[in-house]
Amino acid sequence: MKGKFVTIEGCEGVGKSTQLRLLKEYCETHGINAMFTREPGGCVISEKIRGVILDPQNADMSDMTELLLYCAARSQHTETVIKPALENGVTVFCDRYSDSTAAYQGYARGIDAITVEALNRAAMCGVKIDCTVFIDVPPDKGFERKGGAKQTDRLECETLEFHRKVYEGFKAIIEKEPERFLRFKADGTKYETHAQIVEALSSRGVF
Ligand SMILES: Nc1ncnc2c1ncn2[C@@H]1O[C@H](COP(=O)(O)OP(=O)(O)O)[C@@H](O)[C@H]1O
Ligand SMILES: [Mg+2]
Repeated sequence: MKGKFVTIEGCEGVGKSTQLRLLKEYCETHGINAMFTREPGGCVISEKIRGVILDPQNADMSDMTELLLYCAARSQHTETVIKPALENGVTVFCDRYSDSTAAYQGYARGIDAITVEALNRAAMCGVKIDCTVFIDVPPDKGFERKGGAKQTDRLECETLEFHRKVYEGFKAIIEKEPERFLRFKADGTKYETHAQIVEALSSRGVF
């Protein structure tokens, strides 16, 4: 692939969207050809699937259905948006990606790792992540930052115990593949974290 693929991961309210906004401004200022997208979503079909996944009225959705919907959304988004951009040399930044599926549907919901990994691999359509920015803030603090869970988001409305499992899941994923991750404690201002992220991405050859 000609372009670099960077994903941003972490629990709810840790500052992923905030950092992506700052990175977008940085890319615009520095004339970097970058695309910013998100999961679940990022294209028409996948945004519709996002609506089904996050709808709080779908409280009886089974864990396997949830996993398959995330992967369905990912495969459409990857094949039609991410892959063509990377082939054209565009740097792609994605708000959440396969590690969120491994942490939420694997570690927190408890679906076995072999199934999650196989579906994630299929949904990634041969694309490889160059590096992943992990914003390392525990869920208690994340929810405090954002002033509580958004009532329109089925996953956010899960228990704090669930979100703690997600956080432990992310840390286990990083241990398995430490070289892919750039980890930030994000305990300073959003601008301080932004500066650290830019420096780390530069050292990885993304900028
Ligand atoms: N470094 C920071 N320190 C304190 N609050 C922050 C910081 N970064 C972001 N925030 C605030 O935390 C809240 C959640 O941030 P957001 O970017 O929406 O998180 P996410 O996309 O990870 O859910 C927002 O109100 C945001 O302004
Ligand atoms: Mg966000």
